Amino acid sequence: MDEEAQARVQIWNYALGFNSMRAVKCAIELGLPDVLENHGGPMTLSQLSATVGCPIPALRRLLRFLTHNGIFKKELNLSKSQDPESSYYSQTALSRLLTRDKMAPFVLLQADPPKVQYIGLTANDLKAGKGSGLDNLACSEDMMWNYELDPAYDKLFHDFLTYHAKIATTALIDYCQEVFEGIGCLVDVGGHEGMAIGLLVKAFPWIRGINFDLPDVIAGASAIDGVEHVGGNMFQSVPKADAVMLMWILHDWSDNLCIDILKKCKEAVPADTGKVIIVEAVIDEEGGDEYTSARLAMDITMMTVTTKGKERTYKEWAHLLNAAGFSKHTIKHMKAVESVIEAYP
Ligand SMILES: C[S@@+](CC[C@H](N)C(=O)[O-])C[C@H]1O[C@@H](n2cnc3c(N)ncnc32)[C@H](O)[C@@H]1O
Repeated sequence: MDEEAQARVQIWNYALGFNSMRAVKCAIELGLPDVLENHGGPMTLSQLSATVGCPIPALRRLLRFLTHNGIFKKELNLSKSQDPESSYYSQTALSRLLTRDKMAPFVLLQADPPKVQYIGLTANDLKAGKGSGLDNLACSEDMMWNYELDPAYDKLFHDFLTYHAKIATTALIDYCQEVFEGIGCLVDVGGHEGMAIGLLVKAFPWIRGINFDLPDVIAGASAIDGVEHVGGNMFQSVPKADAVMLMWILHDWSDNLCIDILKKCKEAVPADTGKVIIVEAVIDEEGGDEYTSARLAMDITMMTVTTKGKERTYKEWAHLLNAAGFSKHTIKHMKAVESVIEAYP
């Protein structure tokens, strides 16, 4: 295909992107990935139709789009290949990620964000300075933690954070064991209900863990072996430990508030041996790797769901860490959207 034709197809795909997203959302809401996963093998269109309660003609159109895009696989039943209803549908690597315990909550959150004033992104928002990082904006530093949200949205967010903590921590354990060597006590600041620190103390049993989050969040957390739950506010103080972890925290906040959080973390660790472990995206504007497009899309998402949060470049991380008084830092990459920054007092 020549360049112009390729460009035309790409524009069609951008223009219709919302509807493509709707199709994925419908598949999740119908429960197709979960139904196929629980069934444990391929299912016919009629079986799927009966199980999810959707008429065959509509389901066939939805599945035609999804299979074309690699979400589900369609195989003909050779013995009855004349009958289109006898085709079998099965899972693919993509559809397996769309079950309710994996990425489905994240897709649903993006497809149908809560109707809170600061969430969204329009040209007028951009003109008003949203996403510019400027502090003299009309908009305040509004965050979802300040709102009581619809319980359905809250549950999706909670389910996604649990899955996110699981995959990001698994990457840490697989690629960054040396980061955790010699740490007696580790506090996970903004650790939600403790999934990440729970996995870390299990993988690295020499660590005693503290899970630190807002008191309301800690009130809902279950007991975890080797982990103490502590409620508080990271803008006021952070529990003392050998090292502090901040995973997916700083991208929510403006530079000024990140510097405040980082200073509190620096105060919590020993000046000579302590460190702050930041697990976040690092954007490489010169090219990057296979995760760069996801990192850049997350940056647009941060512009949408926060007023001043952002994913940061190497230079922006260096600026924050210098401003917070850290003497040096190193960056390690993993096979993940996030990288690991170790910052030393
Ligand atoms: C995006 S979530 C990240 C959760 C987890 N670290 C992860 O990577 O999945 C941000 C977390 O910061 C917590 N948080 C927000 N404001 C906080 C504050 N002032 N003090 C402590 N935790 C806070 C939220 O409750 C939430 O659990």
